[in-house]
Amino acid sequence: IDELIDGGIEGKRVFVRADLNVPLEGSTITDDGRIRAVAPTIAKLAAAGAKVIVASHLGRPKGAPDPKFSLAPAATRLGEILGKNVSFATDTVGDSAKATVAALANGEVTLLENLRFNAGETSKDDAERGAFADELASLADLYVGDGFGAVHRKHASVFDLPKRLPHAAGDLIATEVGVLKKLTAEVQRPYVVVLGGAKVSDKLGVIDNLLKKADRILIGGGMSYTFLAAKGHEVGISLLQEDQKGKCLEYLAEAEKRGVEFVLPVDVLVSADFPDLKTKAPANPEVVATDAMPADKEGLDIGPKTRELYAAKLADAGTVFWNGPMGVFEHPDYANGTKAVAQALLDSDGFTVVGGGDSAAAVRILGFDENAFGHISTGGGASLEYLEGKTLPGLAALED
Ligand code: 3PG
Repeated sequence: IDELIDGGIEGKRVFVRADLNVPLEGSTITDDGRIRAVAPTIAKLAAAGAKVIVASHLGRPKGAPDPKFSLAPAATRLGEILGKNVSFATDTVGDSAKATVAALANGEVTLLENLRFNAGETSKDDAERGAFADELASLADLYVGDGFGAVHRKHASVFDLPKRLPHAAGDLIATEVGVLKKLTAEVQRPYVVVLGGAKVSDKLGVIDNLLKKADRILIGGGMSYTFLAAKGHEVGISLLQEDQKGKCLEYLAEAEKRGVEFVLPVDVLVSADFPDLKTKAPANPEVVATDAMPADKEGLDIGPKTRELYAAKLADAGTVFWNGPMGVFEHPDYANGTKAVAQALLDSDGFTVVGGGDSAAAVRILGFDENAFGHISTGGGASLEYLEGKTLPGLAALED
């Protein structure tokens, strides 16, 4: 954005596409990492005298207003972080947005309501998306793309709007892309990748690609049970993607062929019941070996032997990329696996990247010092798709 600023932006209406898709409990933001990450770009534009219009999505509303997904709490938090008032438009391109933007003085900031309250934002139909992008474009003179977490989405505000206005990449996107580029070029070895989270199917492309790059891949979280089931283990009532078992076996064979160490949990914490995340009542899980899981129980975290094993596999890493929690970290009885991986990254002398909404939020919610990691990405799906080598619509539109 420095070139854009050098061109003179005083009094110009600058539309900043941010990703303020933060976790909420009611209207309380439980992790404000994404707001803090984009705040410097907004502050820089405001300091240069721009009228800054910030826009984002939150959650997945169905193309119509839904108070559960209002961005109002994010406006308040952004104002606190910037140390200045951030006005809030109660719609995105309607009367409130038009009036709020018209009322902006130079250096002032406003946040529009959730972009996904408009069906045009996420529409697969180019004309419908284009029409919404036209309406957004009429609010602004310039566009800054800085919502890294959403650059893998071909959405109106991410992909179509920058085609309609002079545009630049914000500082957050520049940093994120700089780090991920490092992981796709020459990396310090051993390159260790830790993958967790619920579904194998979300990680297919990235595993394909990482098998060509990484030296070791450690698997945890919900997706590990599909791998274990593919190897013939009983996984009880754990998360299981039956249709992905074949793919898992292909990955294991490919890893062996390439000499990539592919490591699965050796023990897990199991229980007959999913824990209560609200009351956090004690769950009293049982530790079992992964080849002795009871048929009536569900795996909810990696076990103590696996924690030790993964810490050892991470100890000599030159580079680490970690995406996805190892268990249901939101409950204290199932947080130890995710904590152990976070701690192993902190103990490592290598370059450590935490990729992803969930794992990034997890390290902060679990109380780790975020500055002690090499980089914490604000993009979950976006960083995975970048590492898959895909063209990301939001980046392509900015390079255009
Ligand atoms: C994310 O949380 O990964 C981004 O904000 C994108 O959200 P989406 O998956 O709902 O498009």
